[in-house]
Amino acid sequence: MSIKILAIESSCDDTSASVIIDAKICSNVVSTQEIHEKYGGVVPEAASRQHQISILPVIKAALDKAGIDKSDLNAIAFTRGPGLLGSLIVGVSFAKSMAMALNIPIIEVHHMKAHVLAHFIEDPIPALPFLCLTVSGGHTQIVKVNKDKSMDILGKTLDDAAGEAFDKTGKMLGLPYPAGPHIDRAAKLGSAKFEFPEPKVDDLNFSFSGLKTAILYFIRDNIKENPKFIDENMNDICASVQARIISILMNKLKKAATQTGIKEISIAGGVSANSGLRKVLTDTGLDLGWNTYIPKFEYCTDNAAMIAMTAHFKYVKGEFAKQDITPAARLPF
Ligand code: KG4
Ligand code: ZN
Repeated sequence: MSIKILAIESSCDDTSASVIIDAKICSNVVSTQEIHEKYGGVVPEAASRQHQISILPVIKAALDKAGIDKSDLNAIAFTRGPGLLGSLIVGVSFAKSMAMALNIPIIEVHHMKAHVLAHFIEDPIPALPFLCLTVSGGHTQIVKVNKDKSMDILGKTLDDAAGEAFDKTGKMLGLPYPAGPHIDRAAKLGSAKFEFPEPKVDDLNFSFSGLKTAILYFIRDNIKENPKFIDENMNDICASVQARIISILMNKLKKAATQTGIKEISIAGGVSANSGLRKVLTDTGLDLGWNTYIPKFEYCTDNAAMIAMTAHFKYVKGEFAKQDITPAARLPF
């Protein structure tokens, strides 16, 4: 019998559904909420309302695209956390109700673990054990994925996440939310001629709040001299900030590779869509003899395919959730 799972992702501002059949992704539908753009960040209340509107058509599209009917499903998976509670509630409640109506089991998935397991969706798949730098809007982690796919966090951010560093910089520069892709595009046209400090943080942990303050003062001081400073230097500012964020991430990743002796190195999460980071990782890999792995663009930012992939592994092991399960905004790793 084949294993057909529907997976739902609703942890932040993307409503997504995916169908996986026998470990192969057959559909991955993502509806991105544009309403937050004008507010410069995700408005939780607006996000949950929009999930409520989008979830049914998104699930229907995912089933149609995979060419199956809901009655063919063997299980329904959902993101339990971490994320925005109001957003998670929509996906979790929908998954529980649908599974109850169909009399099939449910599978809970940890959003950050799913970002890492996105590497199993398509070849080339990293050999175990491997390291994954998971960089998203809410998290920055260096994860060691062990032989049995269990995971240990080797380092994490002590304050802001890498994605937040992009998004908050964008806000200071007047760019729309999320600013990561905008900074990425502008950085390609500029040169990293402005110096921002590299924080001194112990071990394999990260800090981005000092960088944020340095950028704030840098912009404030320069605008005093020249009110058009941002407009005239946008591309160079973006290139400089991006280069520093990348160097902060890569220096810790190199340290983790040296400490563990692991040369299978991957990146995941929304910020792994960054073209500068993708290039530096590839180049560093060539230099240091790493095998590097970068997810396809659509599996970097939030998507239900990664939830479906994780759910497949759990289904095979018989790891199902109980119907009284609730979402958890701060779900432990
Ligand atoms: O993983 P994700 O889609 O959602 C969370 O789980 O947070 O990550 C979203 C983050 C945002 O901060 C966004 O600005 C960033 O990923 N991002 C990027 C790029 N595309 C998305 N950051 C830098 N460059 C990009 N191309
Ligand atoms: Zn994410």
